[in-house]
Amino acid sequence: MSRMATEIPFHRPSLSELEKQYLLAALEERYWGGGVWVERVESALKVLYDREVVVVSSGTAALHVALSLLLAGRGGEVIVPTWTFTATASEVIHAGGTPVLVDVGPSLHLTPEVVEAALTSRTKGVIVVHYAGEAAPICAIRELCDRHGLWLIEDTCHALPAYYEGKLCGTFGEIATLSFHATKPVAAGQGGALLIRDRQEAERARRLRRHGWVRSTQVPWEYEVVELGWNYSLSDFQAAVALAQIERLQETWSARKRLAQIYSRALQPVQDIELYSVRQFEEAGWHLFPIFWKGASLADKNRLLERMQRRGYPLNVHYKPLHLHAAYRPYLSPSRTFPVAERAYQEEISLPLWPDLPESQAWAVVEVLREELRRFDGRKSVYR
Ligand SMILES: Cc1ncc(COP(=O)(O)O)c(C=O)c1O
Repeated sequence: MSRMATEIPFHRPSLSELEKQYLLAALEERYWGGGVWVERVESALKVLYDREVVVVSSGTAALHVALSLLLAGRGGEVIVPTWTFTATASEVIHAGGTPVLVDVGPSLHLTPEVVEAALTSRTKGVIVVHYAGEAAPICAIRELCDRHGLWLIEDTCHALPAYYEGKLCGTFGEIATLSFHATKPVAAGQGGALLIRDRQEAERARRLRRHGWVRSTQVPWEYEVVELGWNYSLSDFQAAVALAQIERLQETWSARKRLAQIYSRALQPVQDIELYSVRQFEEAGWHLFPIFWKGASLADKNRLLERMQRRGYPLNVHYKPLHLHAAYRPYLSPSRTFPVAERAYQEEISLPLWPDLPESQAWAVVEVLREELRRFDGRKSVYR
């Protein structure tokens, strides 16, 4: 099989004149460090979420700051789903805590039952991931956290925006984190933000993102480092692009939903493919479009992905569960099992879903996928 000349990328940020206009303006203003454009992003997100907003350099940095605030140097266990990106758990460790990796429910989210079963006297909090832009059962988990005196972080990196029964994801936790990575619904290359309930915590987050210093109000060149922080600032270039993307959010979200409709309709009749089921199509963020090749082995799936890639349709996998990665081995308890996540790892495939993806290409992805599935001989685990 020869490689096709043209390839449909797995992701491609949406670019309009607005991103160009804002980026050029930020360049010409010649400040370049995080200044007025960062403040504009914070104001725009404050209008959307009605939370204190602290913009930082990535979703990972947002998680690090959030966990540092909530663990407050005292350590403790934090319940994290194994079905997520590494940053959700690595930042617990970087903030001095211990991640307790747990399995997920059928929707690939934490469930109250799974959380309840993992509670110990050392549990301090829970991180929920709104996987693929579909809300986790957040009200029930919020209620459980309140009952046990635990804090809740929402990793909202896939869900900008997404709703749970009409309420925005990112507004249920003490803190929620966003990512503006190039692949995300608001893409700025890199970037992230914390949405924080408590004003004083937000002030600390602002200080921690910039070396923990406080500037003198009287003497412009003086500052005092009052605690140790990091340089997690976002530049004005990235903030300018992020602002344009936030202002275009309804447009890009609608485009994602249109494509998700196409995929859903086209894949419904395909034997052996199961769609990711969401509670309400209109409330989901559609950052990813996961499908499940029922009964596939990991080897079968890898062969399918390889064939799709060679035909010019690189697909992806979200996720290889964290408990299967070497770095998390020391954090596993021998008695904990992950049957749902392990089955999903064998079967899950993510299709390209980005706002400017032409509809004809979405149909083409499905057509080529169907062809490859037809060629697969399930009894022998080979392609004809
Ligand atoms: C669920 C989740 N959390 C956190 C992150 C980290 O975000 P960033 O890449 O901006 O550091 C990602 C990024 O892929 C993610 O998917």
